[in-house]
This record gives sequence, C-alpha cells and structure tokens, in this order.
Amino acid sequence: MQTLSFKNYEVLSDYMADIIANSIKNEPNLVLCMASGSTPALTCDLLVQKLKEGQVDYSKFTFLGLDEWVGLPPTNTGSCHYFFHKKIFEPLQLSPSQYFLFNALAEDLKDECSKMDKMISDKGGIDIMIVGIGMNGHIGFNEPGTSFTLLSHVAELDEITKSVGQKYFDGPVALGEGITIGLGHLMNTKKVFLMANGSKKAEVIKKTIEGPVTKSFPASIMQKHPDGCILIDEEAGSLLKKDK
Ligand code: GLP
Repeated sequence: MQTLSFKNYEVLSDYMADIIANSIKNEPNLVLCMASGSTPALTCDLLVQKLKEGQVDYSKFTFLGLDEWVGLPPTNTGSCHYFFHKKIFEPLQLSPSQYFLFNALAEDLKDECSKMDKMISDKGGIDIMIVGIGMNGHIGFNEPGTSFTLLSHVAELDEITKSVGQKYFDGPVALGEGITIGLGHLMNTKKVFLMANGSKKAEVIKKTIEGPVTKSFPASIMQKHPDGCILIDEEAGSLLKKDK
C-alpha cells in the first residue's frame, strides 16, 4: 500500500482529478466507482473541468456510485444521487446509460444489490475505486464488523455514521440503513484510492495505515489491497509516524 501526502486539500484534489481524467483519456471504457461526500467534492469539480478542457472523450466510461442512504429520494440534497447529478452527470451531460447508482427507494433492496453486482461483473470489474473514510473507519457503508468478502449489501448504520451523516442535510434526518458496494468488490478492483483531508481524519488515517488489519476497522483492508493508495493532506497525516 502506498501513501502519498499533499500540502493541502486543493493539491490533493487536483492530483486525484488528474489521475481520473488521464485514466479516462487512456482507457475510454474505464469503469469508475466513487464515493460522494465532502472529501471528493473538489475532485469532482476539477475532474469536470479537466475532462472538458482536455477535450477528453468521456462518452464511454461507466460511473458507479459507491453507496446511498436507504429511504432517501434522489431529490434530497443530502443524497448521493443529488451529489453526483449536480457535480458530475449534469455538468458533463452524461447519458443515463453511463451511470448506475443504487435506488434507495426500491422495494426490493436485495434486488438492487444484485443489479449492482451484475453490472460490475458485466462490465468486467471495476478499474478504479475512489473512497473516503468515515469517522469509525467505514468505507462506503461497510460499517465496523463487515466481512471483507461481502459484495453489494444493505447495512444497519452505526451510531457514529448516523450522527456524522447529519452534516449532509439541511435539517435533522432519521438515518437507519445504507446500501453499499461491499469490500469484496473493493478487493477485486484493480486500483483503489482512499482520500482523506483535515485534522479530524488524522486519528482514523493513523489506524488505517499503522493499525492492525481487522474487520472492526474496515479501512484497514487497504493494507491488503495489491494496488491500494492512500491520499492525504498534511493535516490528515499529522499523527503518522514520522518515517512514513
Ligand atoms: C459517508 C459515506 C462514505 C464517505 C464517508 C466520508 O458516510 N457513506 O462513502 O466516504 O462517510 O465522508 P466525508 O468525505 O464527507 O467525510
């Protein structure tokens, strides 16, 4: 596992956006899976800019949304749907056939998970996955205790996730479950990037990189991925041992 540290959030986001834009340029049929949230927000803006300015053909890549809050309509401004529509799909005018996000309102959520798993297998697997990290070490909605081999699934959210998650919404929201791509898919993805910025992420980044690999701290799975890369800014890396 590689760890790359950047001066600040802007430089980190620019690096990430460059990697994605170049990957689409080199492999127009790229399958990209991304988390939403505060961390990748600037990466998305810069990616749109780079794809447009670089005259990259972005009409063939596939975009998969990592997760979604169960029960939220896509019009809710805190939903992952809303985030990706506003940040990526609308500015790039992507065809709906190019992206697939979990329908968190589906009556049959298991079927929704099967659809995602089938999509991933039909596309020949995920090429690049970009994830953030929750304050309890979760990736997507793979909460502490989740098996490293699970595919798409519905998860009971833990208390930290429910309370930290309030930041995405205009007012208090009752959050209970999440639907997510699982860690089994992460392990099968060719290249995985975990991004984190800010001093509030310093503790979880230390555990991710220096702690034991354990189901009770899902992000520690990054240590086992054959091509995993942690991208952090100086603040998020402030608690790491100095020789890192
Ligand atoms: C959320 C999402 C994750 C996200 C993580 C960190 O709950 N389920 O996909 O990566 O928490 O979010 P943020 O980047 O806003 O800190």
